[in-house]
Amino acid sequence: MDTEIKVTYRNPTEDDAKNIVDFYNLVGGETTYLSFEENEYPLNVKEVKELIINTNHQINSTILLALINGKIIGIGTVSSGNKVKSKHCGELGIVVTEKFQSIGIGKEIIYQLLTWAKSNGVTTKIQLDTRVDNKKAVKLYKKFGFKIEGKLENTTIIEGKYYDLYVMGLML
Ligand SMILES: CC(C)(COP(=O)(O)OP(=O)(O)OC[C@H]1O[C@@H](n2cnc3c(N)ncnc32)[C@H](O)[C@@H]1OP(=O)(O)O)[C@@H](O)C(=O)NCCC(=O)NCCS
Repeated sequence: MDTEIKVTYRNPTEDDAKNIVDFYNLVGGETTYLSFEENEYPLNVKEVKELIINTNHQINSTILLALINGKIIGIGTVSSGNKVKSKHCGELGIVVTEKFQSIGIGKEIIYQLLTWAKSNGVTTKIQLDTRVDNKKAVKLYKKFGFKIEGKLENTTIIEGKYYDLYVMGLML
């Protein structure tokens, strides 16, 4: 990685809510690999504030921001429910803004999320889904030991073309 670039990683506070919404709305337009388009992020600032508060109270969910000079350039999340039978499963989400991709930030976010998950005392499985043609993401997940557990066919449509999703999972 370029030694000039200093990336910091931390959990958000309520004050980050607007920047998080702006970031997701921006990256939604940078890539077709996210489930939402530009300005289509489903939560507003108030809802993200509530999400941050709730997440901070949950043992088995987390949000991790990657920042350069205080500006969000990547976000990783692990989201889990509270049901007895499934609270051990966390759903992983990740995005790094285009300008700072392919310099190791995604790998560091996943490493930190998995390290956190292994030590929270509840999470024993991480799962995610990713487009089959998202070669970079699939390679990244496999590098951490994720296995392809199945394929959901034709679950995404872009300009009339259907795409399949891999369901991937990792036992911790
Ligand atoms: C997928 C994503 C999170 C990866 O983050 P990143 O910071 O670009 O990835 P890293 O630089 O940490 O690279 C991690 C691994 O990805 C692979 N990779 C990175 N750049 C690559 C490239 N240009 N081509 C192919 N593989 C690549 C490599 O396996 C790399 O590991 P290595 O450096 O040990 O070989 C990021 O590209 C992204 O946000 N993409 C758009 C949104 C997205 O697809 N999110 C995931 C949805 S499931």
